[in-house]
Amino acid sequence: MENVVVIGGDGFCGWPTALHLSRRGYGVNIVDNLSRRRIDEELGATSLTPIAPIDQRIAAWKEISGREIGFDKIDVALEFDALVALLNEVKPTAIVHFGEQRAAPYSMRGLSEKRYTVDNNIAATHNILAAVAASGRDIHVVHLGTMGVYGYDGDGLEIPEGYQQVKVTGDDGAEFEREILYPTNPGSVYHMTKSMDQLMFQFYAKNDQLRITDLHQGIVWGTQTPETRLDERLINRFDYDGDYGTVLNRFLMQAAVGHPLSVHGTGGQTRAFIHIRDTVRCIELAIANPPAKGERVVIRNQMAETHRVRDLAKLVASMTGVQVAFVDNPRKEAAENDLRVSNQSFRDLGLKPTLLAEGLLEETVDIAEKYVDRYRPSTIAACSVWTTMNKPGIVKGVDRIEVSAA
Ligand SMILES: NC(=O)c1ccc[n+]([C@@H]2O[C@H](COP(=O)([O-])OP(=O)(O)OC[C@H]3O[C@@H](n4cnc5c(N)ncnc54)[C@H](O)[C@@H]3O)[C@@H](O)[C@H]2O)c1
Repeated sequence: MENVVVIGGDGFCGWPTALHLSRRGYGVNIVDNLSRRRIDEELGATSLTPIAPIDQRIAAWKEISGREIGFDKIDVALEFDALVALLNEVKPTAIVHFGEQRAAPYSMRGLSEKRYTVDNNIAATHNILAAVAASGRDIHVVHLGTMGVYGYDGDGLEIPEGYQQVKVTGDDGAEFEREILYPTNPGSVYHMTKSMDQLMFQFYAKNDQLRITDLHQGIVWGTQTPETRLDERLINRFDYDGDYGTVLNRFLMQAAVGHPLSVHGTGGQTRAFIHIRDTVRCIELAIANPPAKGERVVIRNQMAETHRVRDLAKLVASMTGVQVAFVDNPRKEAAENDLRVSNQSFRDLGLKPTLLAEGLLEETVDIAEKYVDRYRPSTIAACSVWTTMNKPGIVKGVDRIEVSAA
């Protein structure tokens, strides 16, 4: 049996991935420092879905599937020796690395959150790479990066999968061809750490011949996978708060309580999306298709489709009959952008993604409406602002309401 260590395996993407891989016959060990649950407490927020503690989750999985999942509470940014010891004990063929602070708004909340995000994410990624190199084992590292490393100033050019061929003109007019990482353009401290991760991967692939796959993932939507819906103790988290709740979850929650959908700015921001069911499939595909030893880092764009935020709002409004409200944008970003992205590599591996138009209703009924009694209204507004010109609190409420086209 092949063993896989899932770092960050108690989180939104990590938990369903651990279950999926376990069901597919991998020996799975979760490593997590449970920092995400701690941050929920710090923010006074909570998952809309009632997520069980990690030991109960694992016990429920054993009861239902008969399969064991290991768990080690290790902070991979701080406890390097424990990580190395675990790799020597478990002898995994792959590590899936989800273990980072992943909310852009949280990373822009204040100085301590900026510093925590950098310290945690950079040290976590570097420790994992250094531990794999030190172990002397041939472990494939699969990292969850983000589409946000490319930035969102797109002008219609299709974003390739990680690399770009460029021509550079030398002093004497001679032309040199180079392949470079696609220029990164992070829009938050969180995205900046993901951009920096890329350089660490490039170095360790070259210097230590580590096999590394970096998945540039779009915004993940949806809550359940076939495994998490087997029992309520296995349910996945659904974040809707101003920091961790992604745009679609906030819209679904607002719709469930009859609140106008708060669109930041003009809603002209275009973003990439993928369903959690496809996230877990993509990770399995990535594990099964590692780069050869000594090969450059494989970068795959892990997304299914792109949408403009105001179109998303209209879609949710048309399903639920709520209004759409345009509010000040707390972020420093282009008001409108195009986004064209290649996802050829996963399509070549056979991915047939779930599209929003097919799965959104299920999400509204099975999650947002079902657990509406657990909704905490005070946590949904965005409080983090991107520049010091926007002081906290300036993010106004609704300043213009449009009745949806529906
Ligand atoms: N959720 C999305 O829409 C999305 C989109 C693109 C990329 N990603 C990436 O996927 C990964 C997982 O995202 P998620 O939504 O599941 O986030 P999450 O916050 O739900 O899960 C991350 C998990 O990692 C753990 N963790 C953080 N730092 C750690 C450390 N130092 N040591 C051990 N464990 C640590 C947390 O406790 C948490 O359980 C992140 O790296 C994120 O950047 C997520």
